[in-house]
Amino acid sequence: MNRILETMFYKCHVGIFLLMIKVAASIENGFVFNGNFDLGGVAELSQKGLFRLTNSSTFGIGRAFFSQPLSFKNSSNGTSVSFSTTFVFAFVVDQGRLPGHGMAFMIAPSKNLTGASSAQHLGLFNLTNNGDPSNHVVAIELDTFQNQEFNDINGNHVGIDVNSLESVKSAPAGYFDNENREFKNLVLSSGEPMQAWVEYDAPETQLNVTLAPIHTGKPDLPLLSLNIDISPIILEQMYVGFSSSTGQLVQSHYVLGWSFRLDGKAPELDLSQLPSFSGEEQPQRKERELVVGLSATGVVLLIIVTISISIILWRRKKAQFTEILEDWEVQYRSHRFSYKDLFEATKGFCETELLGKGGFGKVYRGVLPGSNVQVGVKRISHNSKQGMKEFVAEIGTIGQLRHPNLVRVLGYCRGKEELILVYDYMPNGSLDKFLYNKTEFILNWNQRFKIIKDVALALTYLHEEWAEVIIHRDIKASNVLLDAELNAKLGDFGLARCIKHEQDIQTTHVAGTLGYIAPELARSGKPTPSTDVYAFGAFCLEVACGRRPVEPKTSAKEMILVDWVYSFWMEGKILSATDPKLNEECKAEEVELVLKLGLLCSHSVAEGRPKMSQVLMYLKGQALLPENLNAHVKAQEGRGESENHAILCYSTPSLTITHSLMYTGR
Ligand SMILES: *[C@@H]1O[C@H](CO)[C@@H](O)[C@H](O)[C@H]1NC(C)=O
Ligand SMILES: *[C@@H]1O[C@H](CO)[C@@H](O)[C@H](O)[C@H]1NC(C)=O
Ligand SMILES: *[C@@H]1O[C@H](CO)[C@@H](O)[C@H](O)[C@H]1NC(C)=O
Ligand SMILES: *[C@@H]1O[C@H](CO)[C@@H](O)[C@H](O)[C@H]1NC(C)=O
Ligand SMILES: *[C@@H]1O[C@H](CO)[C@@H](O)[C@H](O)[C@H]1NC(C)=O
Ligand SMILES: *[C@@H]1O[C@H](CO)[C@@H](O)[C@H](O)[C@H]1NC(C)=O
Repeated sequence: MNRILETMFYKCHVGIFLLMIKVAASIENGFVFNGNFDLGGVAELSQKGLFRLTNSSTFGIGRAFFSQPLSFKNSSNGTSVSFSTTFVFAFVVDQGRLPGHGMAFMIAPSKNLTGASSAQHLGLFNLTNNGDPSNHVVAIELDTFQNQEFNDINGNHVGIDVNSLESVKSAPAGYFDNENREFKNLVLSSGEPMQAWVEYDAPETQLNVTLAPIHTGKPDLPLLSLNIDISPIILEQMYVGFSSSTGQLVQSHYVLGWSFRLDGKAPELDLSQLPSFSGEEQPQRKERELVVGLSATGVVLLIIVTISISIILWRRKKAQFTEILEDWEVQYRSHRFSYKDLFEATKGFCETELLGKGGFGKVYRGVLPGSNVQVGVKRISHNSKQGMKEFVAEIGTIGQLRHPNLVRVLGYCRGKEELILVYDYMPNGSLDKFLYNKTEFILNWNQRFKIIKDVALALTYLHEEWAEVIIHRDIKASNVLLDAELNAKLGDFGLARCIKHEQDIQTTHVAGTLGYIAPELARSGKPTPSTDVYAFGAFCLEVACGRRPVEPKTSAKEMILVDWVYSFWMEGKILSATDPKLNEECKAEEVELVLKLGLLCSHSVAEGRPKMSQVLMYLKGQALLPENLNAHVKAQEGRGESENHAILCYSTPSLTITHSLMYTGR
């Protein structure tokens, strides 16, 4: 007998759709949802009959729940019962875009998660209730975006979430091969269908999560295994289902099949019954199926095909870096490096020469052939043609900038899909690792104060001392580089503009940039010197407090660094915000100056912020902070709110990045 599975489908701002799905089979306490359903009326069925949670519209939430609540606890003694579920899913990203944000299997007390946010919140929680024990939610997230605020390990991971998007345990997406227990990586957003198993053993209080490519069967070793008693977390009656969301970054999330069972093993999915998933959605898959599908008698053919494919791939790889020089570039010739030289300089971009993965790309150490000059070489992949021309033009300008606190851009080399930038070599790398990596030695206050002054000098030069006003647009600890003597130099300007939406690495970069965005920048997207000053304010607080500008694992009040410091100030103990790693030798009046200056620069109204030359005078002790600073800063209303707004809506690149680097308004 067929049972009816009702599936709720929510779409942000659109309303609620009801989707009726016929279930292929029905089992006591469980169900199978094999994809081959009839649809009653509306909803997200793609042309091919695929069940899709979200499509590629921005800031959308898609959910599907089994219509009935299930009894997750034994009513006579109140402990949770075991459960087991398996589902097949696929995430498809439009070509050339970054994936976002992911999907979660969830056990929730209601089908109505009103107020939950899209983007990094996956439609599960929002900024205020994330981490709240009254959520009563256990979820398995398949997350394709690295959110620093949730301490995500990377942009392609599986995590066990309890009431919070900060996972209790997580692992890079993949599985352990049954033969040799070797870990095999899986790319969630590859467009390939994958199967997941979630199993909870109540007596053992153990939760396992396993992932595998479709048709390979269930690996013996789970990807994640966690000892956890879910009884205190869940309620007696719970709903099971899926939630997924998109933000500025989008992808389609599909569920192709699903089965669930309480107190027993989930029924096997009949994979042959799943809706076929191929075609436009993911062009590469065809090739692979072709190869796999060849019969044993076609071995020779297979070898030939394999060899030809290898040759094509090899050629393609080789052709990937074809140096490109167009007519318009001739005038910038003095800034061009040959690919051959850079290849040699970095020993063929050897991993041993890798200095770090900065925003946008990998940075290598290099020694220029013939001159023995050490340089930093950054490789950035891109596929935006139009940004490139402007960017190269800017290298012409930037190359002329000379300031001891700016990382000098020596030149570039341009390929079809890759841009290589050559910088001064900075032996100590970026400041953020000194602030946050526990292994590095700790910068003392004098060093930190000097770094802040160095950055202020660089910004004053860019804003007020160069022939044109130059906006940096990406001030933050990871863009401040330290030379051998720990002099700070500001790096990486203008890059944000020409490289959009291309690369995984950038997601980290962007996630890290959240707390530096001035409220008016979030609204208008137009960078000004004043938005740089805002970011500089966040930077000052970051250096003095040893904390990131946004740290959501803490309580709502502590989350935004600016608000946190401000609340200490209101209590008359602003110095309590100081980095605990800094000890006695701190000069209290300097720390206080930096903290107050940080607050002043983070004024929510652009007009309330000082100019960089003014900031420099405060730092050098040539001017005193305004007498009525307290009233001045206090006057801002709803500062937290505007910042929150920026966080909610701008989890992703887009914003700061579209306007010109040069600001000709001076
Ligand atoms: C996504 O789905 C919504 C609602 O069905 C529709 O209005 C929108 O056009 C779709 N977007 C894309 C990019 O397909
Ligand atoms: C519920 O608990 C009681 C008492 O411990 C036990 O006898 C019964 O079998 C349990 N029921 C289930 C479904 O586990
Ligand atoms: C509750 O009942 C279950 C199922 O019979 C049993 O495994 C578990 O040990 C019991 N828990 C308590 C606290 O009695
Ligand atoms: C779910 O939300 C709708 C409106 O958004 C409300 O009418 C309904 O009562 C809610 N249901 C539950 C079970 O909370
Ligand atoms: C977050 O969700 C909770 C619970 O649904 C809701 O009460 C609250 O208003 C939401 N907060 C925001 C900022 O949307
Ligand atoms: C979880 O995995 C471990 C290790 O493979 C296994 O021993 C255990 O039985 C599994 N538990 C469940 C609930 O599947």
